[in-house]
Amino acid sequence: MDSAAWDKKYAQSELVWGAPPNELLVEYATALPDGAALDLACGEGRNALWLATRGWSVTGIDYSSVAIDKAAAIAARSPRSVRERLDYRCLDVTDADYGSDYDLAMLLYLHLPAPIRTLVVNRAIDSLKPDGILMILGHARSNIEEGVGGPQDPEILYEPEDLVTEFSSRVRFELAGRPQRTTESGIAIDALAIGRKLGVGKELNAK
Ligand SMILES: C[S@@+](CC[C@H](N)C(=O)[O-])C[C@H]1O[C@@H](n2cnc3c(N)ncnc32)[C@H](O)[C@@H]1O
Repeated sequence: MDSAAWDKKYAQSELVWGAPPNELLVEYATALPDGAALDLACGEGRNALWLATRGWSVTGIDYSSVAIDKAAAIAARSPRSVRERLDYRCLDVTDADYGSDYDLAMLLYLHLPAPIRTLVVNRAIDSLKPDGILMILGHARSNIEEGVGGPQDPEILYEPEDLVTEFSSRVRFELAGRPQRTTESGIAIDALAIGRKLGVGKELNAK
């Protein structure tokens, strides 16, 4: 889907992904101290907003102007301390300047062809402080055969092992698996990988 198709989807309903934040993000990030977060493909901002209400400063990037406008409108209705911590930008993640020194960078349900995913994940890792957290969550490739819903193009989907294999020279993975989600049409299978950016010395040792 290109940005025009996403704009159309976002214009069709009030909140495409609902207001509550992603459950796995909540489960993982509730225990973390606040800091600076990067939300790549932030959509309507449900996850960025949740982090900001918990004291995080969040940069949210998405190339759908309709989604960004909705995220900004929700932020505008939030308490000042929350909205001042939210910075939404309508940009393409494949070539946007993300900024740097983040404590957390997340890609939640951003599905890109493998070579572009490699580029974007590497840029997300670049944007983290040493020890900063990378969280990637999407529909698993195995969801096509074994689960329900989600994209059906295997070229844009992945398994947690793909991420660990590809990025373990840069990230010390702490969690990688296939969490299941109960939906109205059945069980959906996701791919999740969470880890911390290795520092330069550690990166050399890992090779
Ligand atoms: C399934 S939605 C997920 C939204 C959000 N992460 C969430 O979980 O609520 C995927 C998002 O990726 C965005 N997206 C896809 N490709 C993009 C790109 N190249 N640059 C910026 N945003 C992109 C779409 O506009 C859409 O908002």
